[in-house]
Amino acid sequence: MRKRIEEVLDQINIAHLRHRKINTLSGGEKQRVAIGAVLTLQPKILVLDEPTSQLDPQAAEEVLTTLQKLNSDLGLTIVLSEHRLERVVQYADRILYLPGQGGRPLLGSPREVLSQVDLMPPLVKLAKKLDWTPLPLTIKEGRRFARSLSLPSPADAAEPEAGGNGRGARNALLLMEDLWFSYNGNEALKGINLSVGPGELVALMGRNGSGKTTLLKHIVGLIRPARGRVQLWGQDIKGTEVQSIARKVGYVPQDPGSLLFADTVREELEFTLRSHNLSGARYDDLLQSLQLSGLLDSYPRDLSGGERQRAALAAILVADPAIILLDEPTRGLDYYQKQALSQFLSQKKAEGKAIIMSTHDVELVASCAERVVILGEGQIVVDGPARKVMSDSMVFSSQVNKLFGDDRLIVVEDVLRAIAQ
Ligand SMILES: Nc1ncnc2c1ncn2[C@@H]1O[C@H](COP(=O)(O)OP(=O)(O)OP(=O)(O)O)[C@@H](O)[C@H]1O
Ligand SMILES: [Mg+2]
Repeated sequence: MRKRIEEVLDQINIAHLRHRKINTLSGGEKQRVAIGAVLTLQPKILVLDEPTSQLDPQAAEEVLTTLQKLNSDLGLTIVLSEHRLERVVQYADRILYLPGQGGRPLLGSPREVLSQVDLMPPLVKLAKKLDWTPLPLTIKEGRRFARSLSLPSPADAAEPEAGGNGRGARNALLLMEDLWFSYNGNEALKGINLSVGPGELVALMGRNGSGKTTLLKHIVGLIRPARGRVQLWGQDIKGTEVQSIARKVGYVPQDPGSLLFADTVREELEFTLRSHNLSGARYDDLLQSLQLSGLLDSYPRDLSGGERQRAALAAILVADPAIILLDEPTRGLDYYQKQALSQFLSQKKAEGKAIIMSTHDVELVASCAERVVILGEGQIVVDGPARKVMSDSMVFSSQVNKLFGDDRLIVVEDVLRAIAQ
């Protein structure tokens, strides 16, 4: 058993965590430990429910290649559920699609199933729009088709870029200056400088354990800096209670279940409104964006993961906070729900809200963020326009960007627009 444990620690890269207490691990670190714990038992069949939902893109790939190896070398049978198909289709032998609401399940090869259903990763969506056959499932397969497209040369369509640090510096809603923090001697943030202005949507990315959640918690005062300061609307929040910060700053934590306590979704929303003295405010649009209308009378803790996530988002967003902090908001959401969330956030951005979203979801970032901040071991290593950051990076680039290697082309719509020109 000892040997087996050592092997697994190495296989999924968690050897450095071996002496850590579970409740001190970051979300993604916990998820990797859970997968490791199951693997040490050497099962014949492995069932995984969204195993990569909290993993950074690199860790997700590591876990999936480990699983693939166990599958091919040891004959392990693996059944896993996943929303981010772009991460898994290339590994799957078969896909079982459950449409829900009594619809007929569909079982077949990835190509058969993806050609028949509406839920699909960006590459497949683009391929279907452009009639690429046989349907490409990997970037490599898609590249052949991409090369044959004639797109305008870069000079024709260069757009002025928004985003990048400092844009909001003068009228920043949020300002962090030389912020340091450590958990019992373990440094988690090392000299963070960040300013976010109204109308900005900043995606906070970075490997598991790089400090994203710790940074967000500082903005609502749940964690206080060891050194440096946090200002909201030009005021240092030192000494301001969490409750009073929360009146203007909406924070949806990484574990959304921790927010939900009422008996129905409706009561959760009403509670928030009451505590903000907003009773009677309407929230139909919000419910529609988050596809929650049918769940208003459900018991929040009996909902599915994605429904709970959306209920938590609604419970915070219903108060219309000026600063919105989201920690991994798309866990459990399908492509349509993600698109609706991304549209909703774009609308909030246009209303002048400042949004900071910590996420591993590259496709979500491509669809709605104009600025990306990447954390590495507690420091900001990149802060710049989303298009540029994504196309300069191997790990954080979207499928469309990988396919064309052109920073004007990040999402499917960019390609369709370029073709139409
Ligand atoms: N309560 C805690 N006690 C001790 N160390 C902690 C605690 N919470 C987090 N850490 C450590 O601090 C570092 C930053 O953690 P944080 O949760 O901010 O990472 P993250 O970027 O949000 O990661 P993930 O992508 O996995 O959610 C990690 O090394 C983590 O193990
Ligand atoms: Mg986190």
